[in-house]
Parts: sequence; structure tokens; C-alpha cells
Amino acid sequence: MLVTESIDEIRNTVKLWRREKLSVGFVPTMGALHEGHLSLIRQAKQSADRVVVSIFVNPEQFGPNEDFDRYPRKLEEDLKLCRKARAAAVFRPEVSDMYPGDKYFEIKIRELGRHMCGASRPGFFEGIVLVVNKLLNIIEPDIAVFGQKDIQQYLILKQMVEEFNHGVKLEMGKIVRANDGLALSSRNTYLSNDERLKAPSLYRSLSYIEKQVREGVDTPSLLIEHQKNELEAKGFEIDYLGVFSMDNIEPVEKLENGRSYILAGAVYLGKTRLIDNILIEL
Ligand code: PAF
Repeated sequence: MLVTESIDEIRNTVKLWRREKLSVGFVPTMGALHEGHLSLIRQAKQSADRVVVSIFVNPEQFGPNEDFDRYPRKLEEDLKLCRKARAAAVFRPEVSDMYPGDKYFEIKIRELGRHMCGASRPGFFEGIVLVVNKLLNIIEPDIAVFGQKDIQQYLILKQMVEEFNHGVKLEMGKIVRANDGLALSSRNTYLSNDERLKAPSLYRSLSYIEKQVREGVDTPSLLIEHQKNELEAKGFEIDYLGVFSMDNIEPVEKLENGRSYILAGAVYLGKTRLIDNILIEL
């Protein structure tokens, strides 16, 4: 497995693969890899001959009061896991490689960034669009896999790829959960023992709302308020919990048959932000 910090080296490696008519899959990550990332790498391996994993904690997607400095960095373990998942290359640039100088352009996201995480994390998706744009230009993969846990990220990037004519097909990887239902996340390592025990309540609330919706509740707002109160009583601080349209990520009051929805929540347990979602097609 090639491990490189160099933009030229990863580009040249991919070029050589292309000359051999090998297809290229890409899994961008910020490291601190867990089973969720490994399932994305395995999925990419199903669709492509060679898989590149990038490991880059992107400063542009962290707000001034967020956890850029304490975000977990575990390069040696990550490389072992990438080898095990049979990645062909790991691209792990330094911040100075990705952002060497002044930036003269600014990205603005319209509709898709207004709600869910876009509402409470100004600049977050702009930072993601910036870095993924750069990474796709560097690697030029045939396919790239992003996890459903970050569903808003996936939908924004899917639109970006279409609007900016990137020649890559995006795939969505399923959420991988711990036995008690908690969605795996690199940030779960921040949780204290007590918080870790409480953390699956977010998924339980989402699952409860999902069940009611599938049984015919078409205006779930009271149900959602009730679940918010329950979570707050357990010590969670709610950022959002609600149903959003899969088409435009707008909040939805009344659900209709034949449409697709994202039932999603973001909460804080202590200082740790947890997000989760369930997709519902009616
Ligand atoms: O999902 C992530 O880990 C990051 O947002 C990504 C896509 C690697 C961009 O930094």
C-alpha cells in the first residue's frame, strides 16, 4: 500500500493505474478510522480495482469554537486498518500541501445548506465542498463513497459533482452501528463511560418516530417534540430533531406517500456532538 503526502505522487500513481486500465475508487476521511470507514473502503473495492483513502483533518470545515485541535489523530492505527481493508494507497497531505497560500475564491452553498447541520455550523459545508472539490481534482476517481451518517454532506456533494461536472459517480455507504444502536463515529471516543451509555438514545428516539411514521402518522411534529423532551430529560442538548425532504433538505410538516424523507437529529452530550439519521421512503 502506497502511503504518501505528495499530491504529485498520488496523481502519478493513479495515472499509472489508468494506463493499466484499472478503475479507481476513493474514500475521503479525516482519519481515526472505525468499522464505518472500513465498510466504505470495502464498498469502494466492490466497484473499483484500486481504492485510494485520503486522511486529512480539514481545518476549513471546523468553526472557531469546534474541535479541530482535539479531533483524534491516529495515523499508525489508520494505516494498519487501511492495509487490512486492502486499500491500494493512502493520501495523507499536510495542511500546507492542501492550502499552500492565500485563497481568492469563496464557496457559497444555497438551499441544501440552510437546514440541519448547515443551520448550526456556519461554513461547515463550504469547507467540505472546498476540500472534496480539491481531492476529486487530485485523485480523479471513477467512484467515491461517502457515508449515510453524514447524509446532508452526501446530498450537497452529489449536487456539487453534478453542477461542476466532476466525472465521478458518488455512492452512499450504509451507517454502521454498535450493538446498542449507536452510529459509529470518530467523535464517539470523546464520550465518558456514562455518556457512552446514554448515547444510543438518539437512535432509539429516531427509531421510535420512524415506527410511528411507518404505521401511518403523517404529521409527526408532536411526536418529535415529545422525543426532544425525553432526550433533554436524559441530559442531551438538542440542536435539531426533525423530518426533512430528501429532495431539498427543507423541514417537512406533513408527510406524503411516494416521497423520500430524512429523519435526522443532532444533539450534544456534554461537549460531544452526535448526529444520526434514518431514511424513509413512503
Ligand atoms: O466525512 C468526512 O470525514 C469529511 O467531511 C470529508 C468528506 C473527509 C471531508 O473532509
